Amino acid sequence: MSKILNVISSPRGAASNSIKLANAIIDRLKEQDPAAAVQTRDLTNGPFPHLEEAHLNAFFTPIAQHTDENKAAIRHSNEAIQEIMDADVLVIGAPMYNFGISSVLKSWFDHIGRAGITFKYTSEGPVGLVTGKKAYIAVATGGVYSSGDAAAYDFVTPYIKAFLAFIGITDVTVVRAEGFAVQELQATALDKGIDSIVI
Ligand SMILES: Cc1cc2nc3c(=O)[nH]c(=O)nc-3n(C[C@H](O)[C@H](O)[C@H](O)COP(=O)(O)O)c2cc1C
Repeated sequence: MSKILNVISSPRGAASNSIKLANAIIDRLKEQDPAAAVQTRDLTNGPFPHLEEAHLNAFFTPIAQHTDENKAAIRHSNEAIQEIMDADVLVIGAPMYNFGISSVLKSWFDHIGRAGITFKYTSEGPVGLVTGKKAYIAVATGGVYSSGDAAAYDFVTPYIKAFLAFIGITDVTVVRAEGFAVQELQATALDKGIDSIVI
């Protein structure tokens, strides 16, 4: 039985295109593995905090020397990392906001990138420690970024792929639902995205 981690980063609930696209990916995964368990992490409901001094102090203090304050500050990070480590497949919903990812998703990433835990530095450079996972990115955008002039302005998919690769997740499939702000495309944008899913 595989474990799917469903990461939500749109606050729009049932109206969200990235959530609908991610749900369609999960439905397809469950067709292959009906017993798959889905754990949902809604980053818009109790978002991860921006990194503050207390978080950074905790990150860079050896675990054996953690004070109560360090332990409290690192709780979010430990929880997020444990959820990823427990999962076989990550489905990350990613609305495009101002050409990039939403700040709640960025905060989650900031709590996950931990030297010595999700990656390590070696003499050959950094090595990701989160191995054996597959990830799907469900991207929703108002414009069209899969081709054409705007493609250079998609900082969502290259960034997420680079971050995941850095921590060791290199088997990544991008699924796009795009054109929700384009009159001629908006009616079919979601269905086209769902039809493009390849598991
Ligand atoms: C604050 C905000 C910023 C946005 N910025 C962009 C953008 O830079 N480019 C774009 O194509 N669409 C942009 N959009 C449109 C969203 O990407 C689009 O509505 C998408 O469906 C949002 O995902 P969701 O439906 O899962 O919430 C923006 C929407 C919002 C609310």
